[in-house]
Amino acid sequence: MTGSLGDASEAGPNASPVETVRGDYVISTDRSRIDIAAVHAFLSQSYWSPGIPEDTVRRGIAGAICFGIYHGRAQVGFARVITDQATYAYLADVYVLEEHRGRGLAKWLMEVIMSHAALQGLRRFALSTRDAHALYRQFGFELVASPERQMEIMRRNIYLESPAGGSSGAERP
Ligand SMILES: CC(C)(COP(=O)(O)OP(=O)(O)OC[C@H]1O[C@@H](n2cnc3c(N)ncnc32)[C@H](O)[C@@H]1OP(=O)(O)O)[C@@H](O)C(=O)NCCC(=O)NCCS
Repeated sequence: MTGSLGDASEAGPNASPVETVRGDYVISTDRSRIDIAAVHAFLSQSYWSPGIPEDTVRRGIAGAICFGIYHGRAQVGFARVITDQATYAYLADVYVLEEHRGRGLAKWLMEVIMSHAALQGLRRFALSTRDAHALYRQFGFELVASPERQMEIMRRNIYLESPAGGSSGAERP
């Protein structure tokens, strides 16, 4: 039916998983392959989302285009893109496990993300980073040109807050 949402939903985040191989490593967008416990183990210790609950990670994966890096069956890296697949995308939760760093995996991951069919022609592709600007610059990202036009609600310590008043080590990504 012309004008229905049928086509858009058929092209949803996991419609046709992309898989690409380089040496012993695979990057896949197949969400069923993701080791959620492993992703949670990293993200709950990360500087940007310390203490994130596993169920929040699970829901975040369900609502995003996810890119896993696998070495054999092991989840060694991850990123996800929150997007309407038409105008806007936000890149989040990018990591490579320490023992696999320095081999170009993050740059390969960025190549796969930037060439993904659902992420073409966007008006804005955003991300936040503490110190990896030089990685993302290689893929066209620049500092926000007009920060005075940007607004946000930032609950930086949301996962660390407890009724007892937990202390916070959270930093902005
Ligand atoms: C950042 C991270 C994903 C890089 O992974 P990696 O597989 O080792 O990266 P690569 O080998 O593909 O190389 C990364 C490139 O970005 C550059 N770079 C810029 N800032 C960097 C940073 N903070 N950390 C690592 N590399 C960085 C490197 O110099 C390299 O470029 P070059 O080859 O032109 O010199 C990894 O260090 C990591 O997981 N860090 C902890 C989590 C994190 O900070 N994630 C990013 C959140 S925004």
